[in-house]
Order: sequence, then C-alpha cells, then structure tokens
Amino acid sequence: SDQLKAAVGKAAAEYIKPHLETDSIIGVGTGSTANCFIDALAEFKHFFDGAVASSEATSERLKSHGIPVYDLNSVVELEFYVDGADEINHQLEMIKGGGGALTREKIVAAVAKEFVCVADESKLVEVMGKFPLPVEVIPMARSYVAREMVKLGGDPVLRQGFVTDNGNVILDVHHFQMAPEAKTAPKLLEENVNQLTGVVTNGLFAIRPADTLLLATQEGVKTIKA
Ligand code: A5P
Repeated sequence: SDQLKAAVGKAAAEYIKPHLETDSIIGVGTGSTANCFIDALAEFKHFFDGAVASSEATSERLKSHGIPVYDLNSVVELEFYVDGADEINHQLEMIKGGGGALTREKIVAAVAKEFVCVADESKLVEVMGKFPLPVEVIPMARSYVAREMVKLGGDPVLRQGFVTDNGNVILDVHHFQMAPEAKTAPKLLEENVNQLTGVVTNGLFAIRPADTLLLATQEGVKTIKA
C-alpha cells in the first residue's frame, strides 16, 4: 500500500507538471497519499511559485521542502487541487475527512479548477458508507447534530480527544448507505447534513466531485475522468 501511494503521488506530480508556470500556485490536500504527492512535487519546485495547504500538517511538510505556502485569500486562481480520499465511487464522489481536515480541504477544492484525487485501489467502492462520514460541528451543537444524524439513519460517534484546525469537533457517522436511489444518496445527504445549524461542513464531496482520479493499482496508475 505504501508503494501504491508513492506511485500515485509521483503520477500526480507528473500529471500537473506540463501545466506548471513560474507563477502557478497548487492546492495541496492532507493525508498519507497527499504526503507522497508533496514529496514528488518538491522535485519540480523550481517550475512553480508555491502552494496553498489544506491543513497545518500539510503546510509544515511543504515548507520543509522549501515550497512557499500562501494564504488562500491572497490567491485568485488555482489550476489544480490534489488530495486523497477515504472512499471514492465511480462517479468520483468521495468521503473525506478521515484526517479531520475536511473543511479546509473543501474550501481549497472549491477554488480549484481541477480536483485531482490520488488514491490506491482499496479506496474505490461501488456504494459509499462503509467509511464513517466525518461531520465537523461547532462544539455547543454537538448533541443536537448527533440527534439529527440519528434521525437521518446514521450512528454518530464523537471523535475522542480531537479538535480540528478550526477549533471544532468531529462526529464520525456510521451506517449511512449511500446508494444512488437511497434517501441518503451522496448529493442529497451532503446537502441535508450541511443544512443543519451548527454543522460547519461534512466530508461528502458529491456536489463537487473530483474531476480526475489517479488510481494506483498493482498493474500501474490508471487515469479515470468524471
Ligand atoms: C484528510 O482529512 C482526509 O480527507 C484525507 O484526504 C484522507 O483521509 C485520505 O488519507 P490517506 O491518503 O492517508 O488515506
């Protein structure tokens, strides 16, 4: 699995390389696969300007390679956002946030023209929901949002001892079945959870799925377009 992550990280750096300009800024995600991308991207650091990071951890790793990190508010255009996923389906809808960085990830992804998901084949599923859905919640709304998750058919578990980069808590919601015809189909569920007062964001990336999936398999890295 480590080898697959390294392979797909390298493939992502090569995928964006032909598009790099000296003033390009790259959006960079969080997690072990994104880390492999950062390490591969560092080889090309003289061909672009810098990066926007989706977490403190990613920011530190970029800086350790000498890649300048910009505040998103000082950046008008991002050609690419490269990030991993916890689950991805064939429509390139994803569950993210296993690492707890979902809100910043969604914000950087929203700005980017092309979302490139980097994943090994274990992440590709027919129906999402085996991986619990992370929901970032303002601390005082925790119990209210948990009760609402139960009404939607989920089984929320507070992520113990964890505070997000934004000072909030995470509910990991188990047992959502995200089949296309279900009431908890990905786009619908993303919308309904986001509408609850106290929810900052949830880990479904279905309204804005990935544009490109680079999937590491035993037979090599496959490029899949939405
Ligand atoms: C971070 O919050 C997540 O969205 C990550 O993108 C996700 O957990 C994938 O991480 P790995 O590449 O470590 O599996």
